[in-house]
Amino acid sequence: MLAFGIEFHQLTKLSYQSVRENIYQPDWNQQPAPFRHFQPGPLFLLEPHPTAPLTSLSQTFTNLVQVETSPVAPFDLTTLSQIFKYSLSIREWREIPNSGLRYPLRVNPSCGNLHPEEVYIMLGAEMKGLYHYNLLEQCLEKRQSEDLRLLIAKATGYPELANQTAIVVVTGIGCRQYWKYRNRGYRYLLQDIGHASGALMLAAASLGFSVQCIANFPDQTIKELLGLNFLPEEPFAIISIGKNLTQWKYPSLKPEEIPPVHEFLGVHNNLGAEGFKFEDIVKMNTESLLDIADLKPPLQNKPITQDYSFPFIKLRFADVAWQRKSAQSFDTKKMLSQEEFNLIVETLKIPLAVDFLGSVFGGVPQSWLEYYCFVHQVEGMGPGVYQLVPETSQWILLQEGNFSQECAQLHLEQTLLSSSAVTFSMVGNFQQSLDRFGERGYRLLNLEAGLRGQLLYLTTQALGLRSVAIGAFYDDELNQFLSLAIPQKQVIYSFTIGY
Ligand SMILES: Cc1cc2nc3c(=O)[nH]c(=O)nc-3n(C[C@H](O)[C@H](O)[C@H](O)COP(=O)(O)O)c2cc1C
Repeated sequence: MLAFGIEFHQLTKLSYQSVRENIYQPDWNQQPAPFRHFQPGPLFLLEPHPTAPLTSLSQTFTNLVQVETSPVAPFDLTTLSQIFKYSLSIREWREIPNSGLRYPLRVNPSCGNLHPEEVYIMLGAEMKGLYHYNLLEQCLEKRQSEDLRLLIAKATGYPELANQTAIVVVTGIGCRQYWKYRNRGYRYLLQDIGHASGALMLAAASLGFSVQCIANFPDQTIKELLGLNFLPEEPFAIISIGKNLTQWKYPSLKPEEIPPVHEFLGVHNNLGAEGFKFEDIVKMNTESLLDIADLKPPLQNKPITQDYSFPFIKLRFADVAWQRKSAQSFDTKKMLSQEEFNLIVETLKIPLAVDFLGSVFGGVPQSWLEYYCFVHQVEGMGPGVYQLVPETSQWILLQEGNFSQECAQLHLEQTLLSSSAVTFSMVGNFQQSLDRFGERGYRLLNLEAGLRGQLLYLTTQALGLRSVAIGAFYDDELNQFLSLAIPQKQVIYSFTIGY
């Protein structure tokens, strides 16, 4: 398992010593622009207050399982307004005291609230063309009048994309993270993209559309199909919205079929991102790129045979998504009930239709993650460190005792983690992922963690709990605490939950 992914991960590690020796203060005057826009060009305003879909959170989770779902309404500008409002839009503005400045918080989370994600959508019929989602103005900016769906179908190998209702591409402007977190920012970029992709999948599923996520595609070709040539912005996920995809054929797009960049509408704004080129990130990203000739048929696990339904949470998805926010503190006096814990664990198993999980065509998803858990305050479970055995869905006790202080210490002394009821650590199986996907595996591990984290945020919100995704921890101290076989297995993400 000699891979740059391992080396890169090593380079991005934090330790008790490293954070004290390499003190780095980002220059706030250098922060890249948080909002992308392409102007002038045709704009389509999204509805600021579209009706909230009535679908419950449980039904939305159930809809994620790749079965033929039935949309509650035709796909139009209202549908697009609903999808974007309940996935990625700005939910509130906060004032910075005594500064006259304010900053936005969004429906989806992001490490440091820096939001590297951007979104493009390809449509057919009356709205034929390619659009950029401008979330500050809540509008779609038209970038291409041509129907690009056939081209993306030929480029990725999924022929049914040519007639799909909508194709969403989630891109990342990494320098928004690298500016502050440097090399480690690449992990956060990928995890943020996982969250954003999950948020979009859920919003579309709440409206009854089938959603499938594709992360193995020819990067440069997709970038050019979006008209992003030469810009510091990369595609990371393609989300198919509408009907089920069922087939894959070897891609056939020829370079001359891609529209030249001068045919795209609107001029991009300058992000002030030029100064943030990190050699190791460039190398890691370059090593992980796929070309059309590299594409292989997607993993296809055996089909899900039993009907899937997520246990009952009657709150509407739209309300839960809109109210989601990260915890600032926890009430240490309240314990998590066994039922709440079980629902949270159930969330780790929701079958997502994702190409690299072997479930894009409805197969039983596998996971490249393993779950460990610091239990501090859960009814019926003694405090300790546990490991989830996927085959039996049982938690086995690894170490007995209340490790709430240790848990906080291992996560960069974030005291929040000492007052939560439980902290899950997602352990990436580097060995399996890199063996299966080569250098692409590093990206996929982090995307999976973000996707799963997004589902966790919503379940915990719906249960009236609070939670926070945790990307900052002392890597090897935590890996060693959990007795992981480094480098084959290492923590890549944590998630802490309480009252
Ligand atoms: C990849 C990722 C890593 C994060 N890491 C931390 C962390 O280490 N500590 C923390 O307090 N919050 C962390 N957060 C939460 C963000 O700070 C939070 O999402 C952001 O401030 C926006 O606030 P909101 O989630 O309430 O919208 C993380 C979020 C993400 C998506």
